[in-house]
Amino acid sequence: MDVTAASSRVDTFNYGVVRQFAVMTVVWGIVGMAVGVLLAAQLIWPELNFNTPWLSFGRLRPLHTNAVIFAFGGSALFATSYYVVQRTCQARLFCGPLAAFTFWGWQLVIVAAAITLPLGITSSKEYAELEWPIDLLITAVWVAYAIVFFGTIVKRKTRHIYVANWFFGAYILTIALLHIVNNIEMPVSLWKSYSAYAGVQDAMIQWWYGHNAVGFFLTTSFLGMMYYFIPKQAERPIYSYRLSIVHFWALNFTYMWAGPHHLQYTALPDWAQSLGMVFSLILLAPSWGGMINGIMTLSGAWHKLRTDPILKFLVVALSFYGMATFEGSMMSIKTVNALSHYTDWTIGHVHSGALGWVAMISIGSLYYLIPRLFGEKQMYSVRLIEWHFWIATIGVVLYIASMWIAGVMEGLMWRATQPDGTLTYAFVEAVKAKYPFYLIRLLGGLCFLSGMLLMAYNVLKTIVGKPAVDAPIPASITASAH
Ligand code: HEM
Ligand code: HEM
Repeated sequence: MDVTAASSRVDTFNYGVVRQFAVMTVVWGIVGMAVGVLLAAQLIWPELNFNTPWLSFGRLRPLHTNAVIFAFGGSALFATSYYVVQRTCQARLFCGPLAAFTFWGWQLVIVAAAITLPLGITSSKEYAELEWPIDLLITAVWVAYAIVFFGTIVKRKTRHIYVANWFFGAYILTIALLHIVNNIEMPVSLWKSYSAYAGVQDAMIQWWYGHNAVGFFLTTSFLGMMYYFIPKQAERPIYSYRLSIVHFWALNFTYMWAGPHHLQYTALPDWAQSLGMVFSLILLAPSWGGMINGIMTLSGAWHKLRTDPILKFLVVALSFYGMATFEGSMMSIKTVNALSHYTDWTIGHVHSGALGWVAMISIGSLYYLIPRLFGEKQMYSVRLIEWHFWIATIGVVLYIASMWIAGVMEGLMWRATQPDGTLTYAFVEAVKAKYPFYLIRLLGGLCFLSGMLLMAYNVLKTIVGKPAVDAPIPASITASAH
C-alpha cells in the first residue's frame, strides 16, 4: 500500500504507474527474448515448430519483434519517462486516471498482439503488423500518453525543461505521426485491412516509418534515459549541456531523411536511395556526439566503473550504441549494402543495437529505478547485477559476432562466380554453412535470457513484502534538486 500517498496524495510523486510499467518491463523482456531464443533454435531445428501453424517461424518472428520492441522497450520507456518527467519537473504526473489508462491500454495492446500474431492476423507491414482495431487502441493510448507527459511539463515547478524530457517529448510526438501515417488503411473485415498506399509509395512510407521507429522508438527515447540515468548513477553533471541541445536538434532532423537506406537497389528512384545514404552518413555525427556526451559524463568518475555494475550496464550500452550507429552508416553505403542486404549481417546489426544498446540501457536504468520505487537504497543483490552484466555482455558478443561472420560469409557465397559466369555455390550451401554460427547465436541468446531471469529473481527479492513508497515532492525547488 502507498505509505506516503495515504497521508497526502497531492504532495507525492505518482510512482504507482511507474512501478507497474517497471515490473512489466522485466516480464515482457523475458517473454519476448524467450520467443527470440525459440526462433534462433527453429533456424537450426525447424521441427521445433511442432507442425503447428501458430508456432511457425513466420508467425513467431513478428511476435518476437513486437514483444521486445513494444512490450519490453515500450514498458521501459513508459516507466522511465513518467519517472524522469516528474522528478525533473518537480510535479506529480498530470491526470492520474489517464496515466493508469496508458498502463492498462498498453497491456491490452500487447495481449491482443500475442493472440492475433500467432493466429496469422497481420497487416504484413514490418513492425506495424497489428490490425486496424489494435491500431486504433494504440492511437488512443498514445494520445493519452502525450497528454499525461506534456501536461506534466506544463504544470512543472521548475523554469527549465531538462534535456531528457526533450528527447522523450520528441519520441512521443514522432511515434504518433509515424503510427498514424503508416497505418492509414482500408478495413475489409474486423481483422483484415489493406494499406492506403500501393507499390513503391507503400514501400517508401513503410520504411520511412520503419527507420524512424528505430530512430525514435529505439534511439531518441533511450537517449532520454541516458541523459537522466547516467548523470544520476555517475553522480556527475552531464558532460556538455550545450552539446546535448545540438545533439537533440541534429539527430532528430537527420533521422527523418535516412529511411530509403532500407530500399537500396529497389524500384525506389535512384536519387531517393542516394539521399537516404547521404543522410545516413551525416547521421553518424550527431549519433557519436550524443554517445561521447554520455561517456564523457563519467569524467572524474571512471573509477566507479570498477565497482558499480549499474554504471557498467549504462556505459557498455553506449559503446554498443556507438558501434551499431557506425555500422549502420557503413551499411547504408550502396556498395556495402549490396553485400549486407538480406544477409545475417543485418540481423547482427539489429541486435547490436537492440540487445547492446536498447536492452542494456533499459536494464541499467531499471536497476537504478526499482529500489527507489520501493523505498530501498539499492537492489537486493549487487553481486547478481554484476553476474547479470557479464552474462549479458558475453551473450551480446556471441550473438553479434556470429551473425557478422555468417552474414558476410553468405553474402560472399551468393556473389561468388566461376570463370564461366555460373554461380559457385547453390543457395542451400550458403544456408548449410551458417549452421555453426546459428548455434553460437543460440548460445548468445540463452546467455542474455538467463541474465534476464537473474534480474527477475533480484527484482522479486527487492520488492516482495516492501511497501510501495511514493516519494514526497520536495518543497524547495531548484533545478538541481531532482
Ligand atoms: C546512425 C545510425 C544507424 C544507421 C545509419 C543505420 C542503418 C541501417 C541500415 C543501412 C540497415 C540495413 C538496411 C537493409 O539493408 O535492409 C539497418 C537495418 C536495421 N537497423 Fe540500423 N542503423 C542505425 C542505427 C540503428 C540502431 C541504434 C538500431 C537499434 C536500436 C538499429 C536497428 C535496425 C533494425 C531493426 C534494422 C532492420 C530493419 C529491417 O530490415 O527489418 N539501427 N540499419
Ligand atoms: C535473447 C535475446 C534475443 C534473441 C535470441 C533474438 C533472436 C532473434 C531471431 C532468431 C530473429 C530472427 C532472425 C532472422 O529472421 O533470421 C530476431 C529478429 C529480430 N529481433 Fe531479436 N532476439 C533477441 C532479443 C531482441 C531484442 C531485445 C530486440 C529489440 C529490443 C530484438 C529485435 C529484433 C528485431 C527488430 C528483429 C528483426 C530484424 C530484421 O528484420 O532485420 N531482439 N531476433
